[in-house]
Amino acid sequence: MKKIAVLTSGGDAPGMNACLRAVVRSGIHYGFEVFGIRRGYQGMIEDDIYQMEEHDVSNIIQYGGTILRTARSKEFRTKEGRATAYKNLKKWGIEGVVVIGGDGSFTGANIFMKEYDDIAFVGCPGTIDNDLIGTDFTIGYDTATNTAMAAIDKIKDTADSHNRLFFIEVMGRDAGFIALRTAVATGAEAVLVPETRTDIDHLANRLDDFYRKKGKTSGIVIVAEGDEGGGASKVAEAVRQRFDRYEIKVAILGHIQRGGKPTCIERVRASQMGLEAVRALKGSKKGVMIGLIDNKVTHTPFEKAIKHHDDISPVLLEMVEILA
Ligand code: F6P
Repeated sequence: MKKIAVLTSGGDAPGMNACLRAVVRSGIHYGFEVFGIRRGYQGMIEDDIYQMEEHDVSNIIQYGGTILRTARSKEFRTKEGRATAYKNLKKWGIEGVVVIGGDGSFTGANIFMKEYDDIAFVGCPGTIDNDLIGTDFTIGYDTATNTAMAAIDKIKDTADSHNRLFFIEVMGRDAGFIALRTAVATGAEAVLVPETRTDIDHLANRLDDFYRKKGKTSGIVIVAEGDEGGGASKVAEAVRQRFDRYEIKVAILGHIQRGGKPTCIERVRASQMGLEAVRALKGSKKGVMIGLIDNKVTHTPFEKAIKHHDDISPVLLEMVEILA
């Protein structure tokens, strides 16, 4: 293998640039020609491909977003779209691709490799959601949770001053990892995640108890965007119907969680994963996602990595219950 490519795909995540830098620099270090594909799989279809040199990734390690841009390509989901993408890769002589993305991106890579087995795909987990099997942390998760935590800390100041109860919505369409981690880190009164059943009566009683028995005059409830309760606004409304102890407010943090400078550990992990992805291609690996489990590098087949996660931490959930 002489030529490899790299792309970022799906929702952007802080640390993607650090990973990309590592892929380009280590690729060149190991003697590959490295190509950048802009806007994920869409750029592969539209032949938006260019050769990258070491200087193309200078001074990007500290920035959020992705200099390659990203997309959620509908066309790549079609056989015709993938056929065009394959034709373009062959035209450039590209034999290996590093995909920095989440479950949708690896699902796409997996389907593509079943159709065209002469292109090797290796993945680096890039999503703020942390919802992949085979790694303790995905690229973007640490920064996103720190961003959410800093915002929630500020909301707590005003909640406390006004004796208010805030329902704060954090990202996570299918996963509650951001919600759970920030709930523990901000001392939330409760957390609602898609992985567990939401019982509004139980929540309302719990909040009522806090008021009556613990003398709490303000509070926060973290709601994952994908919780089946329907997001922070709906949950707040449902609780409001059941008791009127506090003045209730809602804050939706939204895409602020996807941007910003990656944290130190994020940059380090992303760099390591990028380097390991290139090493995997060099070692003729394909169809695997690079991960870090207990600080050790792992290779997880795409098929396993994208299986819906099932391991929201019961330990952290219990911590929220006990420590609130
Ligand atoms: O990248 C993951 C994520 O941020 C989810 O948490 C969220 O539900 C989704 O992306 C939002 O995607 P988009 O920016 O395309 O609306």
